[in-house]
Amino acid sequence: MQDGAVVATLQEAALPSPDSLRGPPSPAEGRGNARAPQSILLRPGADLTGFRDAARRLIAEGVPPEAVAWAVTDSPGLFGTETAQAPAAPLALPKPVAALIPQVIPHRDPERYGLLYALIWRVCHGERHLMEVGSDPLVHRLHRMAKAIGRDLHKMHAFLRFRRAEDATGEHFVAWFEPDHHILEAAAPFFVARFRGMRWSILTPEGSARWDTETLTYGPPGDRASLPEGDGFEAGWQTYYESTFNPARTNLKAMRAEMPKKYWHNMPETAAIPALVRAAAGRTDAMIEREPTLPTRREPARAVAAMADQDPKTLEALNAIIKRTEPLVPGATQAVLGEGPVGATVAFVGEQPGDQEDRQGRPFVGPAGQLLSRAMAEAGIDRGASYLTNAVKHFKFEERGKRRIHQKPTAGEVSHYRWWLDRELDFVAPKLVVALGATAVLALTGKAVPITRARGPFRFDRFEDRVQGFITVHPSYLLRLPDEAKEEAYAAFVDDLRRVEALGRELAA
Ligand code: URA
Repeated sequence: MQDGAVVATLQEAALPSPDSLRGPPSPAEGRGNARAPQSILLRPGADLTGFRDAARRLIAEGVPPEAVAWAVTDSPGLFGTETAQAPAAPLALPKPVAALIPQVIPHRDPERYGLLYALIWRVCHGERHLMEVGSDPLVHRLHRMAKAIGRDLHKMHAFLRFRRAEDATGEHFVAWFEPDHHILEAAAPFFVARFRGMRWSILTPEGSARWDTETLTYGPPGDRASLPEGDGFEAGWQTYYESTFNPARTNLKAMRAEMPKKYWHNMPETAAIPALVRAAAGRTDAMIEREPTLPTRREPARAVAAMADQDPKTLEALNAIIKRTEPLVPGATQAVLGEGPVGATVAFVGEQPGDQEDRQGRPFVGPAGQLLSRAMAEAGIDRGASYLTNAVKHFKFEERGKRRIHQKPTAGEVSHYRWWLDRELDFVAPKLVVALGATAVLALTGKAVPITRARGPFRFDRFEDRVQGFITVHPSYLLRLPDEAKEEAYAAFVDDLRRVEALGRELAA
């Protein structure tokens, strides 16, 4: 096993962000009540049962994550302190947490158990809805790990190929596969359902699975050399692949991303790929079909990963992180930070910077921003004394010739940037937060709320009663209206801002 004898503790430097992942200090820490770390020994691979039993007991005993050393070893007794324990009662975990645990356990990262236990601990200590905070660094990291497992399972289901063999008891099929993670046990039931009537074995470098048409058993690692020679079954795959190969869609980059080369040696049909690709150009001439372009690459890890190993204590420190973090969707010139004094009575939250904001590095300086400034002035709001920011800090656009056309951020992107917005507003500490448009509302509530229904004073749960809320339209909405509707809509917007001004004055008094 490749991660045999690896010890992962939540105190080790290997964990990028102990503070930000761990959440608030545990009561034991708060009292300065240091405990001797407990070592938990788990079996190699994906030890769901071992982890579950240990987590139940640790929670029952009130052992905080930082006091646990999770060890994976082939040699029981290496760490010595773990002894047989009576099983503890099951934990009542929210469904998304219970569902995430088995999805993460097969991950090869030696920190997986520590991270999962930190999640359980936080959920059991006041953060019951933690899974809803997609931008929390711990939640984000665990989601990424679960996704990696999903991808690995998908590859195994799609690219595993059986070879036919005969032994004394008759026909059986054998496959060799090298997954990235410890997924053999998670993947095997798929093959049982698919090839229920066949006797088969799946061999991997870490273990093997065997199905005898009735029972599924797991055994020791396999040996690729013991695989039977290629057979007619494989030839069938190759013919099938050749017949479905579309030369006009030969995009080697996309092809390798979908079917990475490392799997090819186990897949009979891939023997045909080099020849098919060489012939593709000529065959394409005969077909009038445009090669598909790859979608813009998203890099969801970045913003939160950048935060994960840091814990900004001031708005300046937070802004420094935002500034040096690459955009979630590549393209923006720079991050556009919030602007205005810390302690401003009113904070306005928009959607995302536009073209002008992206070039100048300041919020609300383009056409929508100028309209907002005008309306604020008419309503008696001093823009310079207010705080202005956006739910998303980078401009997302589509290039059309020389123009950069604004693209609305997706709900996933909004949720991704939410962690920054939350902290930013905590630092600014306004008394009134004004959401300009639906994206701002989504960022502040986590929900899609129709502006027409919610327009006016609004209570954002995240602030409890500390901060008042107000919802109005986004100024760019006014710019998009047909001319005949503009005047009335603008007047209503100014009316909203007058109410904001009055509310702000009241709250500041
Ligand atoms: N629209 C926004 O939401 N924010 C800006 O900064 C500019 C336009």
